[in-house]
Amino acid sequence: MGWKNLDDMDLGGKRVLVRVDINVPVEDGKVTDDTRIRRVQPTIQDILAAGGRPILLAHFGRPKGKVVPEMSLRPLVPALEAAFGTPVTFCADCRGPAAQAAVDSLAEGAILLLENTRFHAGEEKNDGGLAAEMAELGDIYCNDAFSAAHRAHASTEGLARLLPTCAGRLMQAELEALESALGQPQRPVVAVVGGAKVSTKLELLGNLVEKVDHLVIGGGMANTFLAAQGIDVGKSLCEHEMTGTAQDILAKADTTGCKILLPSDVVVAREFKAGAENETVAADACPADAMILDAGPDTVARVAEVMEGAKTLIWNGPMGAFEIAPFDAATNAAAKQAAALTKAGQLITVAGGGDTVAALNQAGAAADFTYISTAGGAFLEWMEGKTLPGVAALTPQA
Ligand code: 3PG
Repeated sequence: MGWKNLDDMDLGGKRVLVRVDINVPVEDGKVTDDTRIRRVQPTIQDILAAGGRPILLAHFGRPKGKVVPEMSLRPLVPALEAAFGTPVTFCADCRGPAAQAAVDSLAEGAILLLENTRFHAGEEKNDGGLAAEMAELGDIYCNDAFSAAHRAHASTEGLARLLPTCAGRLMQAELEALESALGQPQRPVVAVVGGAKVSTKLELLGNLVEKVDHLVIGGGMANTFLAAQGIDVGKSLCEHEMTGTAQDILAKADTTGCKILLPSDVVVAREFKAGAENETVAADACPADAMILDAGPDTVARVAEVMEGAKTLIWNGPMGAFEIAPFDAATNAAAKQAAALTKAGQLITVAGGGDTVAALNQAGAAADFTYISTAGGAFLEWMEGKTLPGVAALTPQA
């Protein structure tokens, strides 16, 4: 793949600047989901085992270049210590004399966490001066933050130009999983794309119709595709101004040979609330005063059939209003089917982005997927076919 990993580096006694993404949900000072923290543990463990000294660089929230005390990384220390099983010391700056002193006094076997990189305006500007100051703190740069790799920031991109650079274990796993899903996949490939709006996933849909054999469109965005075919979707969420774009995507799919699967039946209700009275109707029979909130059982059966015949599946976005029962039925059923096929060794399943992981967790399907990405925006941009600056910088330029 052109980039190095930890095995290619001589880590013994070296100060290793590790860019991690520990932008995790926190409520009342407590981490409520430590997935991203746990997923960098193998990198930390391997650096320590090789005699290296891990110095963590990370952002938290969007403080926009100012010190915002509520966005300090300090409260994350206990969660890091719990996940890594190692003491973590904290320094209230990620550059300058204080950071230098903290690095110099870092005990062997311990980890240093530096304060939010985004407290400095130079971070998001990818300022060379800030990158150079951070580079002084380390001998090696290890990027383990795939989920922040769509940002060309000083700690995600600039630093890679200044120090010997490698990918961490999580970055490596993310890139390998994504490559196996869309780069060099086993075919046929099916993509499931859901979510509210076509407008936020335009580039993604445009790229996927060129790459995959089957594209299942679900969620609110399916309504826009139904409307594009002249179907009345009643009071459903629908971007009527996007129907022309939806038609273009359908036409492109015709030329590339990608088969698009839209709902053939839908679950409709008159209220958007859990347990709302509902009925299942044909996709072209939504009553004028009702809204489509989920795909129906016939659609789910067609999706299951496509999955049965596929070798690889990539999933982004729920198929219905999964956050309110019973409109989570299609998402749950399709997720369970994907998980069962994965368990049976028939299907490689990769999922990521925003609501997707929550939906798969809710369906009890996530544990059986081949790979669940930690990334939101970066996963989407990667699926759109974009080059991520943080990944590009891993490969040294000639
Ligand atoms: C994320 O949470 O997706 C990453 O940490 C990136 O955060 P950002 O969108 O604020 O750059």
